[in-house]
Amino acid sequence: MNVSGEKQQHKESIRLADEAVAAAAKIVAQDDYRLQYHVMPEAGWMNDPNGLIYFKGEYHLFYQHHPYSDKWGPMHWGHVTSKDLLHWKHLPIALAPTEPYELGQSGGYGCWSGSAIEQDGVLTLIYTGHVDGRQPMEVQCAATSVDGITFDKHPANPLIAVSPDEGNTGFRDPKVWRHGELWYMVIGSGREGKGQALLYRSADLEEWAYMGVAAESDGTHGDMWECPDLFPLGDKHVLVLSPMNMEGAKNLYMVGEMDYESGKFTPEQEAMLDHGPDFYAAQTLLDNQGRRIMIAWMDHWGAEMAREDRGWYGAMTVPRELVLMLDGKLASRPVPELELLREEGIMVSGVTLAAGESAVWSLKNGQGCEWIVEFDLEGIQAKLLELSLLVSEDGQERTVIRYLPSERKLLLDCCTSGAGDTSISAVTLPETSSTLKLQVFVDRSSIEVFVNDGQYALTSRVYPTALRGGLTMKAEGGSVSLQSLHMWNLKSIGS
Ligand code: FRU
Repeated sequence: MNVSGEKQQHKESIRLADEAVAAAAKIVAQDDYRLQYHVMPEAGWMNDPNGLIYFKGEYHLFYQHHPYSDKWGPMHWGHVTSKDLLHWKHLPIALAPTEPYELGQSGGYGCWSGSAIEQDGVLTLIYTGHVDGRQPMEVQCAATSVDGITFDKHPANPLIAVSPDEGNTGFRDPKVWRHGELWYMVIGSGREGKGQALLYRSADLEEWAYMGVAAESDGTHGDMWECPDLFPLGDKHVLVLSPMNMEGAKNLYMVGEMDYESGKFTPEQEAMLDHGPDFYAAQTLLDNQGRRIMIAWMDHWGAEMAREDRGWYGAMTVPRELVLMLDGKLASRPVPELELLREEGIMVSGVTLAAGESAVWSLKNGQGCEWIVEFDLEGIQAKLLELSLLVSEDGQERTVIRYLPSERKLLLDCCTSGAGDTSISAVTLPETSSTLKLQVFVDRSSIEVFVNDGQYALTSRVYPTALRGGLTMKAEGGSVSLQSLHMWNLKSIGS
């Protein structure tokens, strides 16, 4: 087919996919578990954030999207934009699989994850064309747009048609950035059971030269690295990964040094970006204020409720700013724009709970709320401090945050959150922390907990049947004094 025929076909595929979403959206909008201020699809399936970029005064967020059902399937790129990281507008689907390198027979094909860059006012998406059973199965492609809405596939696609090493597991999820005069791209891969980030470079975004393996697992970081993202932060570089088959972790970052000549990234520190069960495929962008902002998919694979046919699936985390701390680790902090969602609030200070005592603070509605509570760790005599939220009338359903002072351990227990799984996530506060500060965002079917200004984050989907806004705090085996508690209902802005 000639170029104009290809463009026409792409337009037509997008029209049909948009129609399918629009037809389902009205019913989906009624669903009880829709979130109030997080990005989610109007209908259909959503996974990874793709192509995060600040372009011509707006934040663009693309995402892995199956418009025809609430199950993962042939991948399209959904698209939303925002001027303020709060109000997101749904735009037409940006990419639909139409070309041989992205079109197959079974469900395992499509325009898979990737990134976006801008040059001279042109927005370029760089993504993986994936077709199960095709040889090669994964190739790297581009599509361009001037208005940031309508994209044409690059006539020279696939730009990278073969993986540099035939024996690799996976060759996908290109993330492109500019350094000096050149473009660089990391691609997720794996070899002999070790996840890898492969590095390419280019002067013109078309001809890509392979530079080698920028970083690889030491044997403990999973066998395939999905969605790598490599970027400068302060005077360091950070590599963000979604490792497959890594014991105890679904996400990871490494802080280290990048040598652009040799193409090698040398990690110095590593830790998880988020310790909850539902955080995957994080991607970042650099905005016009110089902030490195990260959004991830609150994935919730495998949980009972999420599998039910609700006509939609998947949501993104709140945008979080990444900050390099003095100890060389990363903090991830909800962006301050979220404060604009706060409605009426409660403010409490200087409350002490005796052993066995509990206190309840209620909010009008529990659908969307935020609270921040601070404790001086010295002031906790209790053996156990328990904070319960989303508690049902009979108390059977609840989401619980526990702090165990003797171990300095903080737990997020979602076993009775209606999500049908049994997840308890934990972080241990370092000896150096003198305070425990929790900032918690609840949005109907999600909870995000930030500890000590983003030193740790824990994200989970929750599916409570009953909605009761507020917080129950209980001390066991000793007293607890809280320094302050702020609670707000958050405005629903939908998306
Ligand atoms: C991560 C991932 C990516 C891939 C995409 C397909 O969730 O598996 O590696 O590009 O999803 O939807």
